[in-house]
Amino acid sequence: MTEPVVVTHALGSYPVYVQLGALGSLGELVARHLPGRRVAMIADAAVHQLYRAGRLGATRWDGETCTFPPGESSKTRETWARLSDELLRRGFGRDSGIIALGGGVTGDLAGFVAATFMRGVPCIQAPTSLLAMLDASVGGKTGVDTAEGKNLIGAFHPPVAVIADPATLATLPDRDYRAGLAEAVKHGLIADAEYFGWMEREADTILRREPAALERLVRRSVEIKAAVVSEDERESGRRAILNAGHSVAHALERATNYAIPHGEAVGLGLVAECALAAHLGLARPSLGERVATLLRRFGLPVRLAAPLPVGEVLAGMASDKKNRASAIRFALPRTVGVMERGEGWTVAAPEQVIRISLGHII
Ligand SMILES: NC(=O)c1ccc[n+]([C@@H]2O[C@H](COP(=O)([O-])OP(=O)(O)OC[C@H]3O[C@@H](n4cnc5c(N)ncnc54)[C@H](O)[C@@H]3O)[C@@H](O)[C@H]2O)c1
Ligand SMILES: [Zn+2]
Repeated sequence: MTEPVVVTHALGSYPVYVQLGALGSLGELVARHLPGRRVAMIADAAVHQLYRAGRLGATRWDGETCTFPPGESSKTRETWARLSDELLRRGFGRDSGIIALGGGVTGDLAGFVAATFMRGVPCIQAPTSLLAMLDASVGGKTGVDTAEGKNLIGAFHPPVAVIADPATLATLPDRDYRAGLAEAVKHGLIADAEYFGWMEREADTILRREPAALERLVRRSVEIKAAVVSEDERESGRRAILNAGHSVAHALERATNYAIPHGEAVGLGLVAECALAAHLGLARPSLGERVATLLRRFGLPVRLAAPLPVGEVLAGMASDKKNRASAIRFALPRTVGVMERGEGWTVAAPEQVIRISLGHII
């Protein structure tokens, strides 16, 4: 195993193993990080089938498993209750451990089961989608959706270890893969110009999912997210930069009733927020063009396919839970790799300027 990336949080720290074939060492890592525990794997049924068939690696862990139907519609209190009840019925107790194998839906749902089962049992996150590897599995946020909105019920429950095996991305559907790349573009934009430049140069290699490129992509993005969330424990507030592109993205998702996949919304959000940074005099207009060019190379939309009333998007933004009082605040870039410090790493923007900026993508 190569050196894991380490994430620190208020209660301790955990390793993120980023390595081709790492999932094949699951048994060993379970013994190391969940010693003496009765372990259940929770996976969505589609991912579990791939795992059983050896498509996510030849060496498999053979323990007890609970599955649920794949998709965001399973990320509910109902599925959480069903999985928790199943563990209780099978006699799992305080000495349990959970493995969350799958995309971000599994990570959030199984992580929330682990957070609440017997008031909390340890969990290993084993992300298999690009989005889950470089975003959802790192940071400790778990939870479910409700009719009122996404991720409204949940808990902070950092994993004891994360196993991000880039080789598992070979079977990921193309649209999911491309959507995950938007988060990598975000990581380059907020923290690392060299990484951003590498993605520009190696866009084709990345799109072909060449293993070495996948490993570098996942590792660098995980390092960036890990550094930001770890640092946030000491100097609070910088974590807000991870929200780049997301104020607009969440509003687009809400306004379209989640018809746009999250990663695509993030790409669009990055374009609109770069335009906003330019209109506020923080960044050059060429920044947005550079970001849009890379997103386009990754096959991601930089303009909405169907028109959407700007007012609806604005309304979605105003109700974003991250906004203090009534001002709409954004984490904005100055240039590639550098974010505006502002007040708590966010900047308030007048509605009129937001409208104009949204015009770049709508
Ligand atoms: N906790 C956090 O910090 C955080 C951050 C970002 C996103 N999220 C959450 O993540 C979720 C989205 O994650 P997602 O895009 O991974 O969705 P997902 O878990 O639904 O996975 C997408 C699809 O890919 C399939 N899949 C996963 N891995 C595969 C593989 N290796 N091969 C083939 N198919 C595979 C799944 O079965 C599913 O159909 C959302 O619910 C979002 O709220 C959480
Ligand atoms: Zn995101």
